Amino acid sequence: ALVSLRQLLDHAAEHGYGLPAFNVNNMEQMRAIMEAADRTGSPVIVQASAGARAYAGAPFLRHLMLAALEEFPHLPLVMHQDHGTSTGVCLRAIQLGFSSVMMDGSLGEDGKTPTGYDYNVGITRNVVAFAHTCGVSVEGELGVLGSLETGMAGEEDGIGAVGKLDHQQMLTDPEEAAAFVEATEVDALAIAIGTSHGAYKFSHPPTGDTLAIARIRQIHARLPNTHLVMHGSSSVPQEWLKLINEYGGEIPETWGVPVDEIVEGIRHGVRKVNIDTDLRLAATGAIRRAFGQNPSEIDPRKYLKQSVDAMRNVCIARFEAFGAAGQA
Ligand code: G3H
Ligand code: 13P
Ligand code: NA
Ligand code: ZN
Repeated sequence: ALVSLRQLLDHAAEHGYGLPAFNVNNMEQMRAIMEAADRTGSPVIVQASAGARAYAGAPFLRHLMLAALEEFPHLPLVMHQDHGTSTGVCLRAIQLGFSSVMMDGSLGEDGKTPTGYDYNVGITRNVVAFAHTCGVSVEGELGVLGSLETGMAGEEDGIGAVGKLDHQQMLTDPEEAAAFVEATEVDALAIAIGTSHGAYKFSHPPTGDTLAIARIRQIHARLPNTHLVMHGSSSVPQEWLKLINEYGGEIPETWGVPVDEIVEGIRHGVRKVNIDTDLRLAATGAIRRAFGQNPSEIDPRKYLKQSVDAMRNVCIARFEAFGAAGQA
């Protein structure tokens, strides 16, 4: 059944677990997520970016999510707009029937230019005002995602700041977070702690200097009743990088956010954990392997099935590690 983000995250906080929020762009991802949730008995957050809407088209995306609700009516499911960068994007998501929107006012409408605190408060508060009248939840973001190693945001396409960021921008300030939540009344707050979108987060396994889990503890201590959200939280499994490269890929050395560190975040108020890249890596590895092992195969169902299996296993692992399994 369709539920709001607030409903799921309140339950997660009460029972001390976290929820992976997987990005969805196509049928294979949707099926992988739903099969994993069904097998593990987990509540589901599926989220669509503006890029997903451009790729699949709004009606297809909407109906993918509605199909999930129809086939798995016993699972609570949130339809979430990921990284809305304008009031219009959030409004359109509500019109499409989404039960949750992210108003990401940390970046301008281009999804690239860092904004100021006052702009962020103003636009987020406005979205909260109309979303709440529709029973729709709102996630806000304070702080700019980016690498504490390089000062860069990571991905060139999609959502991410361009140009060099300063260290302070990339770590959400606990006092400012408290003021932001009070001023906007958001249901969940995305924070910046050194993660970034995409496969290239860290050039070495992260340490306390590059992945600021301690900052989560400080924000949670100041805002114990606010649901925190971690973006850029793919773990970038080394075995998938190895497989992709074994079958002709060219992915340089790179590291993601270890699952154990996410679990530590969940102990300190993180309730929603955004994951897109790990499913991309699993799908790419599985399809490369299928092509390598069976070069005469031309039925897309055969190799796409391999991608569904691979993505489903990633989803199962995250539902289990974050404590969401059995909570549906
Ligand atoms: O914001 C980052 C998510 O991974 C979505 O990526 O904008 O390429 O769909 P996208
Ligand atoms: P990853 O690129 O680490 O999967 O992050 C996804 C995300 O934050 C979507 O909003
Ligand atoms: Na989001
Ligand atoms: Zn994100």
